[in-house]
Amino acid sequence: MITKCLFPAAGYGTRFLPATKAIPKEMLPVLTKPLLQYGVEEALSAGCQVMAIVTGRGKRAIEDHFDISYELEQQIRGTSKEHYLDEIRAVMERCTFTYTRQKQMLGLGHAILTGEALIGREESFAVILADDLCDNGEGKTVLHQMVQIHARYPDHCIVAIEEIPRDQTDKYGIVAGEKIEEGLIRVETMVEKPAPDEAPSTLAIIGRYILVPKIFEILARTEAGRGGEIQITDALLELARQGRVLAYRFQGRRFDCGSVEGFVEATNYFYRTRK
Ligand code: UTP
Repeated sequence: MITKCLFPAAGYGTRFLPATKAIPKEMLPVLTKPLLQYGVEEALSAGCQVMAIVTGRGKRAIEDHFDISYELEQQIRGTSKEHYLDEIRAVMERCTFTYTRQKQMLGLGHAILTGEALIGREESFAVILADDLCDNGEGKTVLHQMVQIHARYPDHCIVAIEEIPRDQTDKYGIVAGEKIEEGLIRVETMVEKPAPDEAPSTLAIIGRYILVPKIFEILARTEAGRGGEIQITDALLELARQGRVLAYRFQGRRFDCGSVEGFVEATNYFYRTRK
């Protein structure tokens, strides 16, 4: 059972400047809903009850979003507009939100380590990068699929992967290993953002992870790697060498909403399929 989901949301979102100067990237909406709310709904679908969010300076809008807005509620109570708040109210009723701040943006691995204060070292936990927006129509969400795999491999970390074009390997963590079941690979090697001709495969890690608590101890001694940042891929490699990392080819579609192109694609797709 995975009860906690960590959301690293402290990044600068430079690719969306100037929009992200005062608004966190995770609060940019696809249709009417912020990216982070999609992530929280996915975590709820997977059985998580505690949403642990790693924020940073200028990210206060995130806390306000998952809180009651008395003035607004008062204003629209009993009017025809009240239903617009139904979805976010339902989310708020079903889970607890906890927050901590990453004081220096030292990379995704460092953001996850910062979340230790919220997660503790007792249990495995999920990680969602809300700028990777996933959809599986009426089927199980990506995190729900991963939680089911984790139930069968409880001492393992699970990373979600998808096949990408070789000329894009330098944007992702890339894994390679041995197939153990349909759609499931035991990871033997993983590299952060390799050049296309050095990549061990074209299987890229996307923003969904289930991690064992041991990862915190490893991250605490992981040195800065690619781009001078503390990389989760480098920490996971230690567990992969012990055979404890599985890569899962999820069912569904992923949109890279950290890029303008992916964001527009997601908006069009959600408008077509959800409106
Ligand atoms: P990105 O690599 O997309 O970085 O981070 P970014 O800063 O958000 O965006 P760009 O590249 O400047 O446009 C991937 C995820 O890791 C989080 C981000 O918030 C995002 O969800 N992250 C990254 C942190 O929380 N802290 C960090 O130090 C780095």
